[in-house]
Amino acid sequence: MKRVLYIESSPRKARSHSIEVAREFLKEYERLNPEDVIDTLDLWSMTLPPFSGEVIDTKYRIMHGEKVSQGKKSEWNKIVELFDQFNSADKYVFSVPMWNFGIPYRLKHYIDLITQPSLAWSFTPDEGYRGLVVGKVVILYSSGGDYTEANGLGELDHQKKPFENWLGFIGLGDFKIINVSPTLGAPEAVKQIVECAKTNAIDTAQHF
Ligand SMILES: Cc1cc2nc3c(=O)[nH]c(=O)nc-3n(C[C@H](O)[C@H](O)[C@H](O)COP(=O)(O)O)c2cc1C
Repeated sequence: MKRVLYIESSPRKARSHSIEVAREFLKEYERLNPEDVIDTLDLWSMTLPPFSGEVIDTKYRIMHGEKVSQGKKSEWNKIVELFDQFNSADKYVFSVPMWNFGIPYRLKHYIDLITQPSLAWSFTPDEGYRGLVVGKVVILYSSGGDYTEANGLGELDHQKKPFENWLGFIGLGDFKIINVSPTLGAPEAVKQIVECAKTNAIDTAQHF
């Protein structure tokens, strides 16, 4: 039995193209792997604790073996629990819309919370940086525009490369991509793009 964690970062729900295609992917995956467990993390309905100066200070005090109050420790433990929930998965599915050329701030907030030293990554002078998370990944990207190199807008795209760099940094460099874009256009053209992405999603689910 494998655990699949689906991380949803569009708040648009019924109107979201990335969610629509992610659902198609998960439906096919579930059909083929009925014994596996699929958990959904909706980043817009869950509570993400603040990652404030105080919490960061607590983290360093704990790392340096210094004493911290019970209250501060429990604030830090919320972040550790969030990481443990993430790390308990064998496979990850992310639906990632483009917002202002990057990723939605709730996803960045989540990344900042879980990307902790000795949990998500380690550093030693001999080995350098090492990602500590293990698993397979599917990413569903959506954007209103077309940011392919051929379109000449590749430089504006701060959605894909930074997100993939982050995945690689924490150890999840083995990923497949499903593009659902451009989603801004004539209804017929967008419908075709979504249908094409769904076909791709079904195919990808068969090899995941
Ligand atoms: C706040 C916001 C910012 C956006 N910024 C961009 C952008 O910079 N470039 C772009 O191509 N599309 C942008 N879009 C359009 C979305 O990327 C597009 O609607 C995409 O389909 C969103 O994913 P979703 O349908 O899964 O919610 C933006 C949409 C929103 C709501």
